[in-house]
Amino acid sequence: MMTMPKIHPSILCANHGDIKGEVEKLTAVGVDYFHIDVMDGNFVPNFGCGTEIIKAVKNYTDIPLDVHLMIENPARHVDLFCDLGAAILTIHPEADKQPARTLAAIKERGVIPGIAIKPDTSIEDVKEFLPLCGYVLAMTVNPGYGGQSFLESTVDKIKNLGILAQEYGFALCVDGGINAQLAHRLWEYGVTNFVMGNALFKGNYLEVMNEVRAVSSAE
Ligand code: DX5
Ligand code: ZN
Repeated sequence: MMTMPKIHPSILCANHGDIKGEVEKLTAVGVDYFHIDVMDGNFVPNFGCGTEIIKAVKNYTDIPLDVHLMIENPARHVDLFCDLGAAILTIHPEADKQPARTLAAIKERGVIPGIAIKPDTSIEDVKEFLPLCGYVLAMTVNPGYGGQSFLESTVDKIKNLGILAQEYGFALCVDGGINAQLAHRLWEYGVTNFVMGNALFKGNYLEVMNEVRAVSSAE
């Protein structure tokens, strides 16, 4: 069976004046997940989506939610985000005192546990957590804001993560500055999931999606 790249629109970059319309349009074009950036103004300098946005998105779609927690001490909030209906719950291990325990708690709730790896965090730093993850989010910008440029310095790490994804069986996703061209390039290294903010929201949703997905028919 041919695999297709999975697309996760980043709700942070949507028109928040019309979340209903945005979610319905993206649902109609068949996105794979909704990516929701939760920020606490502490782990990252910015504030991002909160629980009300998650409830709103959930209310307008049956497509699963991928919740990216850019918050200190995510362990405290596992139940909250699982109750809100996350299908994937991703933490930054630097923000957590006992990441292994938190990942186990997420799994215990029947939710896919993920870790996010910042551009300056090495694989070595997080290696012990990889077997505990169903999902790994390689950050290709410094977390905190949509609309930043892809950091080329992350590519070697992504290649290595692509190999480890095969070994451990996690889904490898990239987040930050991704456009269709970069998605095609990173697909070759084993990246299967793509968060897209600005490149998607500034374009025609269906056209951008088709452009990304064209990679699987080009093989
Ligand atoms: C950055 C967030 C991203 C961001 C993606 O901290 O994690 O999800 O919103 O937006 P683009 O694709 O515009 O970088
Ligand atoms: Zn994100």
